[in-house]
Amino acid sequence: MQLLIAANWKMYKTGEEAVSTLADLGRLLPSPPGDRQVVVFVPFTALAQAARAAGPGLALGAQNCYPAEEGAFTGEISPAMIRAAGGTWVLAGHSERRSLFRESDDFVGRKTAFALRAGLQVILCVGETLEERDSGGLRPVLERQMRGGLDGVDPAFLPSSLAVAYEPVWAIGSGRVAGREEILEAHGLIRSLLENRFGAAGRGARILYGGSVKPDNAGSVLGLDNVNGVLVGGASLRAESFSAIARAPVPGTGR
Ligand code: PGA
Repeated sequence: MQLLIAANWKMYKTGEEAVSTLADLGRLLPSPPGDRQVVVFVPFTALAQAARAAGPGLALGAQNCYPAEEGAFTGEISPAMIRAAGGTWVLAGHSERRSLFRESDDFVGRKTAFALRAGLQVILCVGETLEERDSGGLRPVLERQMRGGLDGVDPAFLPSSLAVAYEPVWAIGSGRVAGREEILEAHGLIRSLLENRFGAAGRGARILYGGSVKPDNAGSVLGLDNVNGVLVGGASLRAESFSAIARAPVPGTGR
């Protein structure tokens, strides 16, 4: 299984800025190590320019989509538009979409299933807030988000086209990476939910960790059981730090 190293640029970078960062990335990481796949989730407005500028071995994605082929959905973008602009991936259910834009589990699930059917690969993001962790615990939140997010997903798309990113909300942009035990517990739980839902295909699907991943912690995070990649926000904005994460040696694995 290739590790999936993903950059989430959020609402940063114009088309020109994206092209310039990708050029730097091309110099620092001319091709990703063979055991790794690299994808950069850029703003919609930068996607077509970025797709023309991206070097070999680098895939591009959008950070959101609307689950319809076309229609009267002012301000929204369809999976087909993302593909036409050169994107092959999309994020679904990032915690900023859930909290700032009130996206429900059900809506995230509709997007995930629709985007897969439309030919995109999807990273479904899940993760608990600090209040949820302190009150009801991790399990009910992850169970609910996974059930809603995967409802309607055709098992034929696993393992290659669907990945799940565990991003505890309290670790995003906070500088506080989740601890080893916290990551092991959440990823183990997500793995068992994937297996219950999809059987063997769920065993092969990649589970990414996201939340304050930096060059100095990426290798140890990638070395944990059931961690098959990382989703990187702040540290992905500069080619120097993102290329260091993409190349980070994983202790004890020879990777
Ligand atoms: P961060 O963001 O790496 O800046 O914590 C991760 C994300 O939001 O995907």
